[in-house]
Amino acid sequence: MTPIGVIHTPFLQTRDTPIQPLGGQGVRGSIVLDPAYADGLADIDGFSHLTLVYCFDRIRAPALRVVPFMDTQERGIFATRAPKRPNRIGLSTVRLLAVKGCVLEIEDVDMLDGTPLLDIKPFYPRYDNRQDVRIGWLERAKDLPVEQLRADGRFAD
Ligand SMILES: C[S@@+](CC[C@H](N)C(=O)[O-])C[C@H]1O[C@@H](n2cnc3c(N)ncnc32)[C@H](O)[C@@H]1O
Repeated sequence: MTPIGVIHTPFLQTRDTPIQPLGGQGVRGSIVLDPAYADGLADIDGFSHLTLVYCFDRIRAPALRVVPFMDTQERGIFATRAPKRPNRIGLSTVRLLAVKGCVLEIEDVDMLDGTPLLDIKPFYPRYDNRQDVRIGWLERAKDLPVEQLRADGRFAD
């Protein structure tokens, strides 16, 4: 895969970076798309939210078991949203504020400044939302206040 652009955010260190877009609510960032892909932005301004697929490029050592941000117990990486994944793929739904040429202004960011962007998809509730879900170990974390999603300080490597 070849990155199609770069995500810019105010976050320079993992310890300051929100754990999910919910924790980064209101925090602005931008996408600078490689002009080679500009034609692909046609019609994107009709969407309020975009799902970004990107690379956790600053993860040095992936792991199959991690202690996730919202837990104290080790979990299998595929049962978490933690960044130390074998293919280092991140997924965040952000708010689209404006499209200015190859620059997309966005909000609700939870990635480091300079994160390589792999894809952009429009968020469509009918496809992307689910009812009657089971949420495994995250059941314990579901009512934690949003403040606890703001930043953590772990996973620095
Ligand atoms: C728990 S992950 C969740 C990301 C995404 N919402 C997801 O579910 O795939 C968010 C954390 O990944 C780390 N992170 C963000 N961007 C990164 C990057 N480019 N390289 C390495 N780690 C990164 C930060 O510690 C941030 O708090």
